[in-house]
Amino acid sequence: MNSNALTSRKCTSLNGHARVAGDKSISHRAIMFGALAIGETIISGLLEGEDVLHTAQAMRAMGAKISHGDDGLWRVHGVGIGGLQEPSQVLDMGNSGTSARLLMGLVGGHNITATFTGDASLVKRPMGRVIKPLEKMGATFLSRSNDRLPLTVKGAENTLAIEYKLPVASAQVKSAIMLAGLNAAGITTIIETHPTRDHSENMLRHFGVDVKVEELKGGASAVHLQGHQELQGCAIDVPSDPSSAAFPVVAALITKGSEITLPNVGINPRRDGVFITLQEMGADLRYENIQTQAGERVATIIASSKNPLKGITVPKSRVPSMIDEFPILAVAAALAQGTTKMTGLKELRVKESDRLLMMANGLKACGVDLEMGEDSLIIHGNGKAPKGGVCIETALDHRIAMSFLVLGCASNEPIQIDDASPIKTSFPDFIELMNDLGADIG
Ligand code: S3P
Repeated sequence: MNSNALTSRKCTSLNGHARVAGDKSISHRAIMFGALAIGETIISGLLEGEDVLHTAQAMRAMGAKISHGDDGLWRVHGVGIGGLQEPSQVLDMGNSGTSARLLMGLVGGHNITATFTGDASLVKRPMGRVIKPLEKMGATFLSRSNDRLPLTVKGAENTLAIEYKLPVASAQVKSAIMLAGLNAAGITTIIETHPTRDHSENMLRHFGVDVKVEELKGGASAVHLQGHQELQGCAIDVPSDPSSAAFPVVAALITKGSEITLPNVGINPRRDGVFITLQEMGADLRYENIQTQAGERVATIIASSKNPLKGITVPKSRVPSMIDEFPILAVAAALAQGTTKMTGLKELRVKESDRLLMMANGLKACGVDLEMGEDSLIIHGNGKAPKGGVCIETALDHRIAMSFLVLGCASNEPIQIDDASPIKTSFPDFIELMNDLGADIG
């Protein structure tokens, strides 16, 4: 057995306060935008997970000065738009799709060349979705077949501003185009039929950049970004990641006698679909102390096991606002009474693993009744804890690993995962935090 295997055993209850790790999407952007700004950016609450550290390493390789003080603060001295240096080594993005895709946009918009690679999971993931628009902006690419990493980007000599309608609902693609557009002469416009997380838009405004968002018919929207605006270094307080918070939240909802309080969690309306869905399932989950921090809505989340969960149909239109939360929602659905229908999930097949398949296989092995379709997952819960008693394959996917450890808190027999090491990419103190709340993971 792998030395990174871990087992989660049924626990009595989860109780107490916990500070969940910083938001991964916001942390990547804080480092990248700080590295492009004039002057100093001071970041508190940065997620010190492997994915973000890969972004920081790449930005250092392109000339930014990034330091991490004993005071816990990260300080970034940027190079200014157009000022990136060519990295002298291959940029290793590890497991991080966000680092790879956003930085391809950044390099694509600068007159430099860089080669990107990643781990066994990342080299399987599609990059054509960013290559296509970036080629229109003047970048050229040499990649492995099917647009996979490793690949080399030769940035545009004179970056062209484009208008681009996103063929997939992807904040990574939108942000890659925006990053290239920062160094384009003219206005770059990105049209989204299904609006995705808007952290790039919010944070660019925080750095003093004028970003216009136009609401279009049928819920679509257009982002307009005028190139060659300077970013001004600033202070950023990164909220806790709602995608990470969802794991202890679901653990508390499914483990009798639990009540947990998680302060300062991001509840951007384009990210909090999972909490809305859990409320619709009947969960006792509420927001308190709602505030705005560096352009992002945050709140204290209080969740308890007081109410039983019931199955629901998750509206397809909500998928972009909870794209990373379907694995943990599937765990909640497995414990709910009745059927939960999740559709429009095609994108889950190209995440760190094929999440639809990994969840369906793992839950089935635990004794859960379900049906998997090409882009759907239907879970028939009976309101009781599943059997468990299995070892789950996690396929280098942090969210699959954490989802099954959460299920182990309530399943009748322990659940083991074969490899817990990917958890370090997004939530390095997950095990400690869960055990402090009362879980039995070891
Ligand atoms: C992210 C966007 C999403 C999400 C990923 C982080 C981002 O990916 O799954 O974990 O920070 O922009 P897609 O843009 O591929 O949907």
